[in-house]
Amino acid sequence: MKPRKIKEGIYYVGAVDWNRKLFDALIPLPNGTSYNAYLIKGEEKIALIDTVDPTMTHVLLSYLEDIHQIDFIISHHGEQDHSGAIPIILEKYKSAKVVTNPKGKEILSIHLHIPEDRFITVSDGETLSLGNKTLKFIYTPWVHWPETMVSYLMEDKILFTCDLFGSHLATSDVFVNDKGLVYDSAKRYYAEIMMPFRNIIQKNLEKIKAYNIELIAPSHGPIYQDPSFIIDAYNDWVNNPPKNIVIIPYISMHNSTNIMVEYLTEKLIEKGIKVEIFDLSSIDIGKLAMALVDAGTIVVGTPTVLTGPHPKVAYAVFLTNVLKPKAKFLSIIGSYGWGGKTIDILKNMVSNLDIEMLDPVFIKGLPKKEDFKLLDDLAEKIYEKHKEFGLA
Ligand code: FEO
Repeated sequence: MKPRKIKEGIYYVGAVDWNRKLFDALIPLPNGTSYNAYLIKGEEKIALIDTVDPTMTHVLLSYLEDIHQIDFIISHHGEQDHSGAIPIILEKYKSAKVVTNPKGKEILSIHLHIPEDRFITVSDGETLSLGNKTLKFIYTPWVHWPETMVSYLMEDKILFTCDLFGSHLATSDVFVNDKGLVYDSAKRYYAEIMMPFRNIIQKNLEKIKAYNIELIAPSHGPIYQDPSFIIDAYNDWVNNPPKNIVIIPYISMHNSTNIMVEYLTEKLIEKGIKVEIFDLSSIDIGKLAMALVDAGTIVVGTPTVLTGPHPKVAYAVFLTNVLKPKAKFLSIIGSYGWGGKTIDILKNMVSNLDIEMLDPVFIKGLPKKEDFKLLDDLAEKIYEKHKEFGLA
């Protein structure tokens, strides 16, 4: 394949993974993904920006078939979807060096066994000249792993961001075309990869404000010709308070919890609150992760199974706890037959969350008149809390 030109001397040489269904053996990818690599031909030196997932090495090599020199492989991030092909590239280009930061070197050495003498380490703000083109390295830790950084191609005003601003989207478009589709894919990506590191990402967003950026070239999904589109989205997801939204992930075994979820949903809607419900028996868990980005309140619905929450509910709560959404309130509703420790177990599972617990509504068997009253009270409490915190 021929490298795809982005600007004079700058080419796309990445791989589109149309068929990948899961990321990190965890997150569903309904739209596939891509592993973007870029080639920058300076007058004196040639740099490859990141590589591709090892399963797609053949695609990168086909792009590089007529490229006889690579001097630098810029490694922004050690995760294998970007670094996995580095050993093969080093084998093909015997004098090429891997350019990364000291933490990146440590991670690449551990995961890929790259020899010591193939590295050049760079510090925050350092530049690398390719002749008529200059890369400036900007440390942006925890835009997935601790070593992550981005680089700014000064003459062309392109920010290469690797995971940051990425979207899980397989497309033949090099540039963003369908903004709605890219927004959803980037939000799914943010929810699963970036949300837990929100506070640090806030600092990284501040840091890149200083740069005049014309293109953002991530290593997943298409390139942004309108950088403010994705920067504004990140500012909303990272900085703005949650919205007037209640999400209800739930499972029902014998319909009691289901009746409660439907009733509470109706009452919340009557109060002008947006509600999103997720039946965890058949859900794409990535959709729940996306909903967690904006939710003001999470209401978990579960029956009692073997004295505790349903295992699929426990999984969703465990995931919520590690994703650390900015929701302000949490409650639990559901039903039991004769006893159990469901509430205590779930409360103990959300220790990472800075969240206020609203009184659970946990009832015996099918809901009765007095149980619906408790759900009325919960709906009212959520409404009042959203109002108090300026979400309504
Ligand atoms: Fe796209 Fe953290 O790897």
